[in-house]
Amino acid sequence: MQLTSRYRFAASHRLTTDALSPEENARIYGKCNNPHGHGHDYVLDVTVEGPIDEAGQIVNRSALNALVTSQVLARVDHRDLNSEVPELAGHVTTTENLAYAVERMLKSRWTLPARLVRVRIAETARNTFELKV
Ligand code: NI
Repeated sequence: MQLTSRYRFAASHRLTTDALSPEENARIYGKCNNPHGHGHDYVLDVTVEGPIDEAGQIVNRSALNALVTSQVLARVDHRDLNSEVPELAGHVTTTENLAYAVERMLKSRWTLPARLVRVRIAETARNTFELKV
């Protein structure tokens, strides 16, 4: 049995890497490389899996919400992903890398009986990134 809980957060970012020249950054990342950044309303889906407990649930919803709120939302919501999120330091702030960062944030304090199996982040209505944990 799996449960997927959905969360939302807003954040800004700019896609750029010091490993490339300004021209190469502009070519690869296009308008996402614009100097002053831009924002997204991200949708985060966290999926857990496990047997149901004596309460008939995979996981206590409040405990999962508290973990996601303290470990993820408090760190990224209304933040600039390039400068305010230590877990992304040294990484291009693509949603691919953001998904790995969210996995690390959750796993560092994971004490729930259910297993974390998927982190999915929708960056826009068109693009959703899914990390199988
Ligand atoms: Ni973007």
